[in-house]
Amino acid sequence: MVFIFMNIMDLLWVQGTCINAVISFQKHFQAQESDVILATYPKSGTTWLKALTFTIMNRSRFELQNSPLHTTTLHQLVPFLEFDLYLNHQSPNLECFSAPRIFATHVPHALLPGSILNSSCRIVYVCRNPLDQFISEWLFIARTQDKEPSDLAEAFERACNGIQFFGPIWEHALCYWKASIEQPDKIFFLKYEDLKEDIASCINRLADFLGCPLSEEEVTQGVVEEISKLCSFDYIKNLEVTKTGRAYANGVKNSHYLRKGEVGDWKNYLTPSMSERLEKIIEEKLAGSVTKSL
Ligand code: A3P
Repeated sequence: MVFIFMNIMDLLWVQGTCINAVISFQKHFQAQESDVILATYPKSGTTWLKALTFTIMNRSRFELQNSPLHTTTLHQLVPFLEFDLYLNHQSPNLECFSAPRIFATHVPHALLPGSILNSSCRIVYVCRNPLDQFISEWLFIARTQDKEPSDLAEAFERACNGIQFFGPIWEHALCYWKASIEQPDKIFFLKYEDLKEDIASCINRLADFLGCPLSEEEVTQGVVEEISKLCSFDYIKNLEVTKTGRAYANGVKNSHYLRKGEVGDWKNYLTPSMSERLEKIIEEKLAGSVTKSL
């Protein structure tokens, strides 16, 4: 995979040793059998997935109302491997993370360390409609730089050509999707839009996949609804720790990770010809796979 760096954010990451971080992660990370890796393309719902996975997996350790989510940012509870832990370290000390560990990554499937691919650790992938992902990222970059968004047409051209730090979104999603079909016990493939449409079903399926299914008693007690509320956009956005906290190592304000949280916001930014163009590319690239709902 060839990385092509075209926007300021990418350039900053390059200068800021992001490439080295990806390489260090790839070379040195030792997965444990019980690890859960949350894999996403940027701006596809990683933060939401972090909240859901952390809450589902730790629900027997904490009363939901006393969840660490209230006091610690999601990016500290579930750090990014390449952007946080390996950012300036070849071999970060991961001993403070007790098993089962949960980490996040944006690295494409083909670049995952062998210890992740070859161990029985589990991967959860969430993908998102590329039009919404594009707008979310375009606005996110501007917010992190405290600037007006860059030229939309230029940024859109790059997205249509797949010129992005982690490669084209369609290739990213397709590789994880194929792997999830080949290894359904190892990779669980979710869609942001499905989370929005039916969060209860997604929570149940995610809990099953993670090996901690919700008991009938929990269902009767309304635990699914509680998890859903605790991880919801409005709830997390309004937490004090979200308003004041920063991501683990890259210094980005936590509040930047929660903007609008809607499906179809691209309609407020893209012209019909732009959306048709990207939709056509996606349809062609994903033909016969995850296309229909992306
Ligand atoms: P928008 O910019 O469209 O609002 P990531 O976490 O991968 O960086 O993705 C960020 C996107 O997910 C943002 O999309 C953000 O608002 C949305 N998001 C974050 N937490 C969410 C939640 N709990 N529910 C729904 N969407 C959420």
